[in-house]
Parts: sequence; structure tokens; C-alpha cells
Amino acid sequence: MKLLVIGSGGREHALAWCLAKSPRVQKVYVAPGNGGTASSAEYENLPLTETADLVAFALEHKIGFTVVGPEAPLADGLVDAFRQAGLRICGPTQAAARLESSKDYAKAFMMRHGLPTARYQSFTDRDQARAHVLQQGAPTVIKADGLAAGKGVVVAETTAEALDAIDHMLGADSAFGNAGARVVIEEYLEGEEASFIVLCDGRNILPLATSQDHKRLLDGDKGPNTGGMGAYSPAPIVSPALHNRIMREIMLPAVHGMAGDGVPYTGFLYAGLMIGPGADASRSLKVLEFNCRLGDPEAQPILMRVKGDFTRIIEHAIDGTLDQAEIDWDRRTALSVVLASAGYPQAPQKGQPITALAPDTEDCMTFHAGTALQNGQLVTAGGRVLCITALADSVRQARQLAYRAVGETHFEGCQYRQDIGWRALPGSTVPRGTT
Ligand code: AMP
Ligand code: GLY
Repeated sequence: MKLLVIGSGGREHALAWCLAKSPRVQKVYVAPGNGGTASSAEYENLPLTETADLVAFALEHKIGFTVVGPEAPLADGLVDAFRQAGLRICGPTQAAARLESSKDYAKAFMMRHGLPTARYQSFTDRDQARAHVLQQGAPTVIKADGLAAGKGVVVAETTAEALDAIDHMLGADSAFGNAGARVVIEEYLEGEEASFIVLCDGRNILPLATSQDHKRLLDGDKGPNTGGMGAYSPAPIVSPALHNRIMREIMLPAVHGMAGDGVPYTGFLYAGLMIGPGADASRSLKVLEFNCRLGDPEAQPILMRVKGDFTRIIEHAIDGTLDQAEIDWDRRTALSVVLASAGYPQAPQKGQPITALAPDTEDCMTFHAGTALQNGQLVTAGGRVLCITALADSVRQARQLAYRAVGETHFEGCQYRQDIGWRALPGSTVPRGTT
């Protein structure tokens, strides 16, 4: 069977790697792919990004199924086009992908179906938005409505910062274009974040292993927000009791709500959660956002823990038989460290030769993101460059293994966090039964 993965990040390299392990798979095409998926015989990069070209390729090469990594092609209706052509594809339709592509749609959906989320109001008028902030005060959170590549959220500590954000997003000189035509202003929530990702077939839900991301650039969760600087799986905070609550209070009502609204959800669904303090039965559980895809870098440690044939799981999702699927998870912890270019996230420097890479082993893989092969030389080609992912018996050991490989990797200006996994470390043990 030949497969197609859409995207070019670390998540897509990990997806291609995980799918290529299946004995049923001859080749995984990656469009457009990166330097990592260009460097191995199991994969082949395709310089295609237009929907019509991808459909034509999949038809001509009899692709068994396609998996979409990032949000943009989903929001553009890639899944709809593939299905119309009779092609098998894993991902949400354009209508369902609005759960991520429109914050306003997602908030209204959550309210309508009783999902727990921060209180909010949505504005298109700058003066009304300003008046709301002046009345409510800070801290508060201002979100641009639309895909803004992770740059559309401002957590404002002061009223002045909130007003600045509104001017920036709704002012005449808006940096957000259409994405900034509407803002959502929401209640500031305190707690610990976790990523909860499930696979859906429109009706049935298969939860993936739990994970936690590190959104800020610098150690100690300081500095600007990024796409994610590291992750691990499982997330010890999601105990079995909390897992049950998340399924019952959030994921099931979400997927049933979409089906009830006539927009059945298919593909990966990611809830970014804020988990308040307290005992598991009573702690507050709120959805910060839905993403209509796997997280990056969360996908890398999650997929590293998949045992068995992942192609079968994806096929169950496409065929509507996820109730018959079960994933066998490696009991160990996987931990990923992202290596980013100098200047990331504002203005990443590209084109640096990657002069050393740690050797891949069964327990430690380097997934590529912003890399390219230029005349046989691997060079940096984006903000997040590599994602080194290690698997070991404890968070501490996985971290040691990952950072040892980081030490063997080199490109000029490389920046990374030294403290990935810190929340899971101090004396914490993974509760029994947690995936
Ligand atoms: P989002 O893209 O909506 O997940 O927001 C990006 C990041 O902003 C989240 O991962 C949180 O760290 C932070 N954030 C978003 N909404 C809130 C909120 N209501 N309260 C506190 N922090 C938030
Ligand atoms: N790592 C967060 C995301 O993929 O949105």
C-alpha cells in the first residue's frame, strides 16, 4: 500500500515514520515534506501543495489513504475535495475544521453544547471591545478570530496591554488582515495545561495517549509563545479519574454535538485544556481551544509510543469502525526536545548547515521540521528545525537520553529549552493505568 501524508513539520515526519513501520506499507509520500523525509528510501517528498494536484497524484498513484497534518489545508477543504474524488482520507471536513479555524464558531459551539470553557464575548467593533476591557479589567485574554499561526492570542496582564492587543487586531493598521476582523475576549483561567487528543470517525472516539506541551520559548515557561518547544507523553496530571471526566464532560459531548449539528467530526481532534487546582473529582476542567489535528510537538512523543500497526487504526477512523480499534501503547515515557533556529519565533534565521545529527535508534529519533536537503547538504529551513524524541522508563531517563542526543546535534544559532518535562519531574510518578 502507498500512503500520502500532507505537511512538512516534525508531526508529519513522525506520522510518516509511524505509518512506514507497517509491513503493509511500500512507500509514504510526503507533500511537501522536509529534509528528514527526503533522506530515507521509505519516504518520497512531493513538491505539491495545490489541492487539485494532490487529488490528481493520489488518483494516479492509487494511494491507499491520506493523512493531513496541519490545519491550513483542512480549513481550505482538502478533505472535502479528496472525498469528492472517491479518495480515502483521514481529517475533518472544511465545515468541521471551523472548530479550529474560527474561535468564534468554537466558542459558540461549546456554549450551545454545554462544554466547559472560559466566559467570552466576541467583537468586530474596536470601541465596543475597548469598552468591554475597560469595564472587565485585567488579566484577560484577547484572541483573533481565524488561523493566525499561533500568533493570534494575547494573554494581557494589564488593561493597557489588552487595549493594545485590540488596537493591533481590530485597528485600521491591523496586522491580522481578515483573521483580525473579529476578536474574542475571554476570561483569564489559571491552572496547568494539557493536550488531550482523540481520533474520531464521526461517531466513535478513540483517545490517544495524553501529553503536555511547552508553549513558551524559554526555560521556566518564560518568553514569548511559540508553536511548542517540547512535549512528553503520558501527562501525569491526567490521572485515570481525570481521563474519564475529560471524555465524559468534553470529548463525548463535543463529538456528539458536531454530529447533532449535522457536521460529523472525522480525524484527530485536539482539546487544549486548562486544569485547575484541587482533587480530581472537583478540579475545574476547561477547554482553551480545539485544534482539528494532532499537536506539534505532541504528536512526536505520542506516536513514538504506538505499538503495532498504526495504518489499521487510521483505516478504522476512515471506515467508521473506530469502536473496534484499540491502540497498544508503550508503557514507557516519550519526551521530545525541539531545536529551533536563532531568531525564532519572531524572525527565524534559515539556511544554516546542519553539521551534526545524533544517530537514530529504536529509543531515540530525530524528527525533522524546518529542514531541507540542498545539493546533498541538510540545512535549516524554518523556525522549529528538529525534534529529538526519546523513550525510556521514566521522565528523568527519557530526558537524559533526549538531551544526550541534543548534545550530538549541531547547527549555528540552535536554541532549545533545557527544562523539558519539569512539570512531570519533581517526585512525580505516572499514576497506574495512565496512557
Ligand atoms: P490558544 O491558541 O487559544 O490555545 O491560546 C494559546 C495559549 O494562550 C494557551 O496555550 C494558553 O497558554 C494561553 N491561553 C489561551 N486562553 C487562555 C485563557 N482563557 N486563560 C489563560 N491562558 C489562556
Ligand atoms: N503544540 C500545540 C499545537 O500544536 O497547537
